[in-house]
Amino acid sequence: GWVRSVRSQKEVLFLHINDGSSLESLQVVADPSLGTRDLTFGSAVEVRGKLVKSPHRMQNMELKAETIRVVGPCDIWSFPLKMKERHPLEYIRQFPHLRCRNNTLGSLLRIRSEATAAIHSFFKENGYVHIHTPIITSNDCEGAGELFQIETSNEARESAEKNHFFDVPAFLTVSGQLHLEVMAGAFTHVFTFGPTFRAENSQSRRHLAEFYMVEAELSFTESLQDITQVMEDLLKTATSTVLSKCPHDVELFHKYVAPEQKLSQRGCLFIYFRISYSEAVEILKQAAQAFAFKPEWGYDLQTEHEKYLVKHCGEVPLFVINYPYDLKPFYMRDNEDGPQHTVAAVDLLVPGIGELCGGSLREERLHFIESRLQRYLDLRKFGSVPHGGFGMGFERYLQYLLGVDNIKDVIPFPRFSHSCLL
Ligand code: 4AD
Ligand code: MG
Repeated sequence: GWVRSVRSQKEVLFLHINDGSSLESLQVVADPSLGTRDLTFGSAVEVRGKLVKSPHRMQNMELKAETIRVVGPCDIWSFPLKMKERHPLEYIRQFPHLRCRNNTLGSLLRIRSEATAAIHSFFKENGYVHIHTPIITSNDCEGAGELFQIETSNEARESAEKNHFFDVPAFLTVSGQLHLEVMAGAFTHVFTFGPTFRAENSQSRRHLAEFYMVEAELSFTESLQDITQVMEDLLKTATSTVLSKCPHDVELFHKYVAPEQKLSQRGCLFIYFRISYSEAVEILKQAAQAFAFKPEWGYDLQTEHEKYLVKHCGEVPLFVINYPYDLKPFYMRDNEDGPQHTVAAVDLLVPGIGELCGGSLREERLHFIESRLQRYLDLRKFGSVPHGGFGMGFERYLQYLLGVDNIKDVIPFPRFSHSCLL
């Protein structure tokens, strides 16, 4: 493991070593003669000895060392992490290659790993087939103009000739939804959980250029309620699994990163509210608070609006359903409550973050969609069924779960935010 602390006394040498398996370090008790000059904070060591019951109340076991070998020394003067210091997340973000050696990031990465496994087992246990949807694709699912186009380095150099490697322009995926919809024509329940790319403003505390999205698609589904139920069950199951599998790691976030988060997280385990977009606009119009963007039917809900709505409902997760037809992508199902008035869309808003999930019923009726998009059509000609699905940003989920302010602090490598593109 790696040395987290060294305390040398006249009679005895104490080390704490950590191997990344848990927040807790193992106490090593050694004769001071085993200590060497390069046995410092941050160094990698191999210790042999006997595991014994510890007399100390705070720990179960300790290691009585017989030999200590420094495998990789660490120059403590140039090492940016310091013993016994609680470094702010902004500070350690500057060291993408070293920050996994910090307690907070260590806990985060273990939680990320458990949450990933919990999400996979939730879907598996509920009969979903996992599909690896393509990362390189020619479709622009969301159509919001946030695509990264890909080309070979030769193409980039000879940009005058438009000889595409794939014959057609290719992009990094913005969503696996359309590929899942294809599979939902043969499997009634499918999901994907993979990297997703969007060319969005990277300065935001809620947006990444590369993030992980969990997406599900359910066939033979005629009500939004069926979709929101899956979102709710997914969040409850994943959250309670993480809380029971890594209580100490989560506790660290509650203690040092976001002390107020415990309550809001509890909300996600029990209560979910539901209002329509139209009701949301009415609530906002009646608010005593002045907004930078005046709430008006037919316009997107801004972050300030989402915040107000979540607060208005008591700081619990809030489903907002039935958005204006013109605000949403081509694939969402017309509610037929007026000429192209609203679609069966849902956004799940959560305290501190805003939008965590977005989903909808899909327009399965050929004649409704004909006017909107040619390429979606074939899917609707051969055994088309009512279906719907949703996507959840995994990093936003972690942000919500742990109360982390900046989304760059919940990813293993803070890509594209520093000159060091690890
Ligand atoms: O609401 P979005 O755009 O929905 C879709 O892409 C649908 N096709 C999903 C589906 O129905 N299968 O994105 C889904 C979620 C958002 O609610 C948000 O949590 C997250 O993905 N997200 C981002 N997370 C981090 N950085 C970004 N740039 C994100 N863009 C979206
Ligand atoms: Mg959305």
